[in-house]
Order: sequence, then C-alpha cells, then structure tokens
Amino acid sequence: GNAKVCLYEPMRKHTTMLVGGPAQFWVEPQTHQCFANAVRYCRERGIPVRVIGRGSNLLVRDGGIRGVVIHPSKGVFGEVSVEGDLVTAGAGVRFKKLASIAQKAGLTGFEWMEGIPGNVGGGLRMNAGAMGTETFDQVIEVTFLDEDGEIRTRKREEIVAHYRNVPELRRCFALSATFKGQVAEAGAIQGLMEASMEKRRSSQPLAASAGCIFKNPEAMPAGMLVDTLGFKDSAVGKARVSLEHGNFIVNDGKATAKEVLDLIDKIRVQAREEKGIELETEVQI
Ligand code: EPU
Repeated sequence: GNAKVCLYEPMRKHTTMLVGGPAQFWVEPQTHQCFANAVRYCRERGIPVRVIGRGSNLLVRDGGIRGVVIHPSKGVFGEVSVEGDLVTAGAGVRFKKLASIAQKAGLTGFEWMEGIPGNVGGGLRMNAGAMGTETFDQVIEVTFLDEDGEIRTRKREEIVAHYRNVPELRRCFALSATFKGQVAEAGAIQGLMEASMEKRRSSQPLAASAGCIFKNPEAMPAGMLVDTLGFKDSAVGKARVSLEHGNFIVNDGKATAKEVLDLIDKIRVQAREEKGIELETEVQI
C-alpha cells in the first residue's frame, strides 16, 4: 500500500546526466513502513533491490537495472521540519531546498547545500560536500532501514563517515536525518548563500551532468588533473569533458552510458600512465 509502481521506467528520466536504460520495477513509497515492506518483499524472494534519489551522482548503464528500484521522494520522504536550530528532512528532500528552508528559519551552516544537486538520502550515503563542508559535519542523527529490515535511529557519533563514503549507508538505507545549524542574522546567511551560488556559476557547467566524476586524489584535485592532461572539451560520442570544469562530463545531446564510461576509462588510463595517479570514481555506477 501507499506506493506508486511502474514497469520498465527509463532511468534517463531520473538522472541528471539524462542517460540510462529502464528499471524493471520502479517503486515510489510514501511511508517508512511501505519502504521497509518493499525491501523485505524483495529480500525474501532474492530480487535485487536498490534505491535511487535524485540521480544526480549516478550513472545507470544502457541495459538498465534488473529488479526493483525504490525512489523515496513523496509523502514522508519529502517532509522538512524545523525545531530551534535543528532541521529534520526526509530522504527525498533536495539539499537546495534544505538550504532555502534554513535561510528562511534564520539558521546558518546550510549555505553550502545550495550547490548540491542531490537529495538528502543520496547525500547522506556519499557524505556529499561543497565549499569545504561535508554532510556529516552537520548531521545530528540519521534514521535508516538496517540490514535486518528494522527502522533505527543512530547518533552522529555512532556512524563512520569518510570523504564521499559512508560504509554503513551502503548496506542500510537512509530514511531521514536531523541537521544542526546556528542562529544567525539574515544578511550573513544571504552573503554565504551568494558565495555558494557564485562558486557554482563561475566554475561548474550548466549542461546535464552527474556532478564531479572522480574523487579528488591526494596528489591534486581531479579537475586540475584532467585539465592538465588536456582532456577539456574532448569527447566520446556525445559525452564531453566540460570546458568549465575538468571533473565534470556533460551530456552533449543524446549521450549513452557507454560513451560516458568509455570517456571515464580514457581519462583513468592516461592519469595512470602519465602521472601515476589512480582516479577513483565519485559517481555511483
Ligand atoms: N581546477 C583546474 N581546472 C579545472 C577544474 C579545477 O585547474 O578544470 C582547479 C581549480 O582552479 C582549483 C582546484 O582545481 O584550484 C579545485 O577546483 P574546485 O575549487 O572547483 O573544487 P574541486 O575540488 O574540483 C570540490 C568538490 C565539488 C564541489 C566543489 C566546490 C570533489 C570531487 N568535488 O570540487 O563537488 O562542488 O569542491 O566546493 O570533492 C561533487 O562532489 O559532485 C562536486 C561537484
């Protein structure tokens, strides 16, 4: 109950890169219990199950996804509430929306979220970040569905979060989280919001992309490395390295996932051969 179900739903409609084949079953639950029931149903029958949020850090292959894809965006997953300096948001709330709700509530600390294209669920799973702040810098607690199908809430201190990786949330599914801000005056918040927007406008492409493709290696930022290797504006089919930022691949028309993956491979091979740097993808494939 409480879920919309579609068959063979094209993933290019649900990823910001606008590529990817169909999901066999696409499920949009509206309550935590409905989400839990869908996961249990699949696990009991050995049906593969995965969760997709806004699809802004995701590359789905052209062959699509076998099994069930859960998309928590409606009902409880789209809710936000503010209590003092705490903001609680469902997995389907966009970070951008969180930034604007915090601003209206007179809370600072959320401005960097203005530059994050994804939803809370995905951002928690990958510890998304921008402007020197990461999701888990601000998290107070996370409610998630654990491996046994139980809904649990865990405090920040009990969760291990690395740069763009939260191992536990690869096994469990985030349902909602509470973030902490600080009370501040409107002008200060506005200034930080503008700095975040300006950073994005001045250095990142507007065209369809999945955000940064690679994690920053220790040696130097991935964007700088791709730039140094001379890859900017080079393409495989309709997948092109952005002119604005070397760590973005943009969809220059009707790119296929294969074209994007081939371009990623070319860059990785050259980074390894010319610089001895092993690039790891940040986008989920
Ligand atoms: N640079 C170049 N050429 C380029 C791109 C960048 O020389 O084509 C240089 C810049 O001049 C700068 C350095 O590389 O000196 C770092 O670039 P930037 O300031 O754009 O930051 P970044 O490390 O590339 C990180 C996050 C972004 C986030 C920005 C802004 C990663 C992988 N990327 O990018 O996050 O938006 O900071 O805060 O950590 C994402 O995760 O999808 C993402 C876009």
